[in-house]
Amino acid sequence: MNLSIQLAPHNERGLLLSNPVIAASGTFGYGTEYAELIDIQKLGAIVSKGITLRPRQGNPQPRLVETAAGLLNSIGLENIGVKALIRDKAPLWAQWQVPVIVNIAGESISEYAGLAGMLDGVDGIRGIEVNISCPNVDAGGMEFGTDVKMASKVTAAVRKQTALPIIVKLTPNVTDTVQIARAVVDAGADALTIANTFKGMAIDTTKRRPVLGNIAGGLSGPAIKPLALYLVYKVAQAVKTPIIGCGGIASAGDALEFIMAGASAVQVGTATFADPRVLPGIVEGIERFMEKEGISNIEEITGAANVGYAKT
Ligand SMILES: Cc1cc2nc3c(=O)[nH]c(=O)nc-3n(C[C@H](O)[C@H](O)[C@H](O)COP(=O)(O)O)c2cc1C
Repeated sequence: MNLSIQLAPHNERGLLLSNPVIAASGTFGYGTEYAELIDIQKLGAIVSKGITLRPRQGNPQPRLVETAAGLLNSIGLENIGVKALIRDKAPLWAQWQVPVIVNIAGESISEYAGLAGMLDGVDGIRGIEVNISCPNVDAGGMEFGTDVKMASKVTAAVRKQTALPIIVKLTPNVTDTVQIARAVVDAGADALTIANTFKGMAIDTTKRRPVLGNIAGGLSGPAIKPLALYLVYKVAQAVKTPIIGCGGIASAGDALEFIMAGASAVQVGTATFADPRVLPGIVEGIERFMEKEGISNIEEITGAANVGYAKT
């Protein structure tokens, strides 16, 4: 059975994954944290925590709150900064078989470009995920992903600075995801991640105050699965670029839904918090499904559920 996926078919370096199951950014640290719990080399790829030019402390506590079938977070891109990442993490990744993709976030277009330039050619870094969809920072983040022109400019600026495969991670907090997807593909994205978290909040009725220190946050987990799935389905009809489906995936069945909607690969975030073994479990579940259904190549079922646009 062939589960391998090429996520950057038009990029010279390519981004070949042994299977389509990827650890999402922000829920898997720098990969090293999970290396003792599961065999991380069995994953398709790992996306590291969003990195910025300078280290960040993140937002005030509380930054996580559970909701019905979901999780709200307002971490605010707490991270070690790009220099420490290159110095301390990349040398470890260079020894790994599993490809590591670095998620980047900037406060300006030139910061995104600067980050891409610094990461280009660093041993151990196999791709860049451009986070233009973080809902938890004041400057940058989602601001770039909700505006067609800005999304396009950021992608083009990153493209100029690196030959690495570029994956642009889109926000679901827009009226028309397809328009943004088309713009970033035209600007040079090799692949798309759909999607980041949905903006949301919770209120503590005793205190009569928002629960999160930052007032609002991003909703993830099973609650958003049908929403993210629909976005993947829609964008898959509009662009030929590989799509990585993300949002509420917690089982092989969930992953297969995204693949049949048109995703080439999937990312798993929140479900990892409940059980880190969910990631290798999804790989095994996909294998079992393929065996049962007599599928020899995963690509046979990519977009298999595509029957055209929903009319309403
Ligand atoms: C605690 C937490 C931190 C996150 N940090 C990042 C991040 O740094 N960069 C990013 O692009 N997405 C980040 N995300 C979003 C996830 O990568 C993912 O897109 C989202 O949670 C939806 O997938 P899920 O429902 O499987 O968690 C974060 C999500 C959570 C829950």
